[in-house]
Amino acid sequence: MSDLSVALGAKLTLANPILTASGTFGYGDELSDLLDLEQFGGIVTKSLSLKPREGNPPPRIVETPAGMINSIGLANLGLDRFLDEKAAFLGQLKSTVIVNVAGREQAEYIEVVRRLQSMPWIAGFEINVSCPNVKQGGIEFGVNPELLGDLVSSLRNQTDKFLMIKLSPNVNDIRPLAECAQRNGADAVSMINTLYGSAIDIHSRRPKIHTVFGGLSGPAIKPVAIAHIIKAARVIDIPIIGIGGIQDGADVVEFLLAGASAVQLGTVNFFDPTAITGILAFLRK
Ligand code: DHB
Repeated sequence: MSDLSVALGAKLTLANPILTASGTFGYGDELSDLLDLEQFGGIVTKSLSLKPREGNPPPRIVETPAGMINSIGLANLGLDRFLDEKAAFLGQLKSTVIVNVAGREQAEYIEVVRRLQSMPWIAGFEINVSCPNVKQGGIEFGVNPELLGDLVSSLRNQTDKFLMIKLSPNVNDIRPLAECAQRNGADAVSMINTLYGSAIDIHSRRPKIHTVFGGLSGPAIKPVAIAHIIKAARVIDIPIIGIGGIQDGADVVEFLLAGASAVQLGTVNFFDPTAITGILAFLRK
């Protein structure tokens, strides 16, 4: 069988260039009956914050043309329960595990990374600075190079593990943010997170999402992702992990041609959880 392994810099080599995208696989165990997670080059977990978060009230997901909008509000079980309930499953997986971290403020991101950074089964961290659905933290960091630089350099001081910054497409120009991540010690950037979106039910005249706005994902956003990746790849040398509407092997090749070194599968997992199988077969042809 042909070798699909890919080195993302000196610190991390994946068995293949396909990872799960945060928020679409929970913490892995929820979907382990449905598909073989070890097919993936890596698993990226749902955003983890220091304390548990209930998230936003429903409705928080709606289907749209060629995509979906979600506003989950970073619902998650918090660091203590993550360690009690999820670490054992994730720790025994043969796949590379990357923990996605979210925070309201810099200190929260740092505390989560500090407490996880010595765990041997965690290969690295993806930092969510691009959630569009929370009032505090999240995208604030992802659109402001000064805040981002400070966050990345303080995380760099906490950990030698692979550190990947997930960038937002909700900016005029992604290049200064990608450059800022690189300059402050990130090992990679992942892009794109979701685009701002909204939808209205014409019968009730009410928004289809409780918080009115949410994050748009799925095939609808693929051209936006490709454009941001081409731009970023012209100005940074660290690996780019491409995300945005990938549904088959041809899409993966398009992201690699744009300048990505690996990719993540997100929304496709909701309508075709076995897409990974076809994608790997396509890449091996
Ligand atoms: C959420 C977080 C994200 O980063 C995103 O792109 C969409 C939704 C959330 O938890 O609400």
